[in-house]
Order: sequence, then C-alpha cells, then structure tokens
Amino acid sequence: MPETAVERAAALLRAGELVAFPTETVYGLGADAANPAAVAKIFAAKGRPADHPLIVHLPGHDHIDRWARDVPDVAYELAEAFWPGPLTLILKRAAGVPDAVTGGQDTVGLRVPGHPLALELLRAFAGAHWSGVAAPSANRFGRISPTTAQHVRDELGDAVALVLDGGPCRVGIESTILDLSRQRPTILRPGMVGAEALAQVLGELPASGAGEAAPRVSGSLDAHYAPSTPLAVVPPDVVIFAVREALARGERIAVLAPMDCPFEHERIHWRRAPADPDAFAHDLYAALRELDAMGFARIVVQKPPATAGWQAIHDRLRRAAAGSGPEAP
Ligand code: TXA
Ligand code: MG
Repeated sequence: MPETAVERAAALLRAGELVAFPTETVYGLGADAANPAAVAKIFAAKGRPADHPLIVHLPGHDHIDRWARDVPDVAYELAEAFWPGPLTLILKRAAGVPDAVTGGQDTVGLRVPGHPLALELLRAFAGAHWSGVAAPSANRFGRISPTTAQHVRDELGDAVALVLDGGPCRVGIESTILDLSRQRPTILRPGMVGAEALAQVLGELPASGAGEAAPRVSGSLDAHYAPSTPLAVVPPDVVIFAVREALARGERIAVLAPMDCPFEHERIHWRRAPADPDAFAHDLYAALRELDAMGFARIVVQKPPATAGWQAIHDRLRRAAAGSGPEAP
C-alpha cells in the first residue's frame, strides 16, 4: 500500500520535522509539541521571537489533562460545545510541558481544530505519548496568516518539509483565545467564536483585552497581520473621498467595500467585500495578500458595521492597518 500524505506527515512530525497543515481557521506550521528541538525549528522558520507561546493542537477533548492541570469544569464544557472548532483555551500547564511551547509561562494554549485533514493528522500522530502538535499560523512573523496551501509555500518555501493541502480555510481568521487561567475568563484574541456564544456556556460575558498582567500574545502586537502596502480602514462616507484623493495624487488604489464601484477609472481596483461577517472573514486574508501583491499605492477598506459578529474582523483590520506599509516587520 502506498503511504498517504497524512501518514508521511505524521512520520515527519515523529522525526522532529516541520509539517504545515490546514485548519478551519488558517494553515498551521506544526511540530511535535513534546520535542523542544522540533519546536525550535518553528521559531527559526517563522523568524519569530522564541519566547512567544504556541498553541498545542490535540486530536480530541480526552487529551486535555495530559497538557493542563487544575482544569476548571467550564473548560470541559467549552470543549464539548466548541471543539473541534476555532476556540483556543489557555489553561495552567501540566508538569513536563516544554518551555519551548509555553514561552516559559505557567500556562498552555490548547485546541482541537475543526478540519478533517488536521484531525486525521493529529490522530495519526497520536500514537506518541504526548500527542500534541504545536503550531502557530504558517506565515513569517508579523505577516498575514495563510489560508491556502499555496500561501504557505509562498511564505515558507523550503523551510517546511511538507505542506498538506486541505483547500482554502473555512473560517479564514485565527481562533478566539480564551484565558481560563485567570480569576475571570478573558478573551485575549477575538475570533469567530464570539463573546455572546461563550457566555452561553460561561454563564457570564468573558472579560476582554490582554489586561495588566498580560502574558505574551504575539497576535496582540499592533504590527501584526500586516500587508506591506499602506492600508486604511475608513467609514463608508470616507471611501469615495479617499479614492478621489488618491486619483488626484495620480496613484493606483485598491478598494475593499460592500457596494458596487461608483467609478470607472483604470487606476482604481475595486473589490466587492461580502456583506456578512462569516464570508468577510473567509475572504479577508486571501484578499489582502492578493491586493498587496498588486503594487497599489494604498489599500482602502470600508469599515464594517459595529455589530457583534464583526468584532474579530475589526480587530484584524485594525492590526493590518497599524502594521501596514513598507516599514512593517
Ligand atoms: O487559529 C489559530 O489559532 C491558528 C491555527 C493554526 O490553529 N494558530 C495561531 O497561532 O493563530 P499563532 O501562534 O499565530 O497565534 C497563537 C496565539 C499567539 O498570539 C500566542 O501568543 C497565543 O496564541 N498563546 C499561545 N499560548 C499562550 C499562552 N499560554 N498564554 C497566552 N497566549 C498564548
Ligand atoms: Mg500568527
């Protein structure tokens, strides 16, 4: 029997190599989470500071206790409600979880991803005692997360032994990170599992923001998820104004907005943005990558509505704008 791509990927992970794999959120760059030398390769490939903690991906809920201790009941309830899915839980780490994974912190991030190929890989790898795959998004540090296998190849090339291709990611932006190691559950990074959905299980709305005693969350740095083309997020009534201004300066401009293009001009590239948040999130990173590669003087994104389903998108757009431009890391 010929070896399948998943079997090959699991064997590479066991051998301490890197494998990129699809999840429902974005593609991950995986290594055996119990092997510090393998995990070190992730940081080298990404160009990421080594003290940033990684999420450990598990094949199922029943693996939580190998990685975490003093797990509150609500963690199991959240796992039951949202896993496999785009929610990462921060818990107190169990003894033996390598510092390479946690950035030396006393906590560990865990999630069971909702993508069939990811689950297949995690199960194939799960023979190992620890059975967790540490994986950040498979992009270079500070750049936009990849949502297709081709994005990963473009970003990381030979630095990764194998890229499993599971098609475009369904959700399109990174998981919600909920910290359960604090007195009050706290969202460290918003995602498409919103505060209201979490409240249904928690019985109260989670707090939000990294807070004072913030652990290191690289996804919370401002210059993250950034294109190298300057990007502005502007209210609907400013979009037309921004376009006119760019034209007056003789620039080529890209626009991402939900309405049809009211102009006809060869220096305007207009891209219709989906009007609902799920579709918007699904397309966002691919759209930004594509527009970034086209060499516009500026990308203008119409600010989405202020309603609940858009929260994570506002967060990513704000960061994309903050880190954008040729000076971005
Ligand atoms: O959707 C996702 O979460 C994707 C896919 C691949 O699973 N992964 C992802 O990983 O976005 P990464 O490394 O790009 O972002 C993970 C974030 C980082 O900001 C990291 O600092 C934070 O999770 N994190 C991980 N462990 C943590 C911990 N123990 N305490 C606080 N933050 C943690
Ligand atoms: Mg990332």
